[in-house]
Amino acid sequence: MKQLVNPHGSDQLKPLLLTGDELAAEKKRAENLPKILMSSREVGDLIMLGIGGFTPLTGFMGKQDWQGVCDHMQLSNGLFWPIPITLSAQKADISELNINNEVALVDAATQEIMGIMQLEEIYEIDKAHECREVFKTTDLEHPGVQMVMNQGDVNLAGPVKVFSQGEFPSRYPGVYLTPEQTRQQFIDKGWYSVAAFQTRNPMHRSHEHLVKLALEICDGVLVHSLLGQLKPGDIPAKVRQQSISTLIDHYFVANTVLQGGYPLDMRYAGPREALLHALFRQNYGCSHLIVGRDHAGVGEYYGPFDAQSIFDEIPEDALETKPLKFDWTFWCHRCDGMASLRTCPHDASERVLVSGTKLRKALSEGGDVEGHFSRPEVLTILREYYASLKDSEKVEVKLTGHSAK
Ligand code: ADX
Repeated sequence: MKQLVNPHGSDQLKPLLLTGDELAAEKKRAENLPKILMSSREVGDLIMLGIGGFTPLTGFMGKQDWQGVCDHMQLSNGLFWPIPITLSAQKADISELNINNEVALVDAATQEIMGIMQLEEIYEIDKAHECREVFKTTDLEHPGVQMVMNQGDVNLAGPVKVFSQGEFPSRYPGVYLTPEQTRQQFIDKGWYSVAAFQTRNPMHRSHEHLVKLALEICDGVLVHSLLGQLKPGDIPAKVRQQSISTLIDHYFVANTVLQGGYPLDMRYAGPREALLHALFRQNYGCSHLIVGRDHAGVGEYYGPFDAQSIFDEIPEDALETKPLKFDWTFWCHRCDGMASLRTCPHDASERVLVSGTKLRKALSEGGDVEGHFSRPEVLTILREYYASLKDSEKVEVKLTGHSAK
């Protein structure tokens, strides 16, 4: 019998979101508990725990898990896990707390109580060690390193109960989907081999090409956008969603692609993040993850195909979800079509390679974008977005890492 891939390390999803009477009672109780403020990354991770995207985790990781994940990509029970999922606080703010206390987990940005955690452990970490292992650098210019180095000085661990998915369901109706929902949709559509296309960008021709290549071999593709926070200067999720849905409407066969989004912030951990991407896509029901050039990378910290080769370094049975590896793709004038380094024998001067910086400049100044880089319907949406920005909002960042994407 055909079936979807199993959730990670489990034969069923383990969502930690409460519902009904239990939710109402726990929410009331949480109002009187000591409060821990969470960063945007931590909120995204908590929501992911809530919807079962991080199955089979039951909460934020303790020291042994943190160490094992940093050093060997393994939880203390031996299960594969590539990136620590941790919650931090300032020591001074938790001096009154004791082990086994319960704490209310509060989104620092909205003040919403997002859940409850039973405090099993308070521990210190060597943050630079985490950065070296996970990001391969301790350079503070790296946005993921910055996030870890600036987090609180201790980690808090324990099982969580989750109350809310924040603003994601109302802000992205129909696009923000839980693993249960994508699995159900795949079954309804009769899709069993499903590739996930991870993206944090509006989709240009190279992205479209990758998805179409995957469609040649899979039943369907989940175009799965990050809906959490990015670094300054990146395009907001709303605008990306609009351009992706226009592209799907105009250039894909109906019912071959599902547009979805997930609640995490970008970590920019390149190869390690590619592994996390595959892991949680398994929970969403995807048998494959598209991994192209500089997947989840930033700046020059990772080689363009490091995020592919890392899949050869993990045990065969670490994940059911497998990578679909693609070379660098582009439009080639001589080929007169989309091609890649594997298929195009022509000179680089024949290829349309537009850097992120050049693209932003053209879009914000109303200039031309080289033909065949992107579909006109997508460029129209991006031009409108850039035109709506005030000059002070047109952040130009050094670390684009998107040349020719
Ligand atoms: S990211 O999350 O991986 O940073 P991005 O939107 O930049 O997202 O890329 C989405 C996917 O397309 C990634 O797998 C990336 O490797 C791949 N990709 C993007 N541009 C190209 C390209 N020109 N050639 C090959 N793969 C690409």
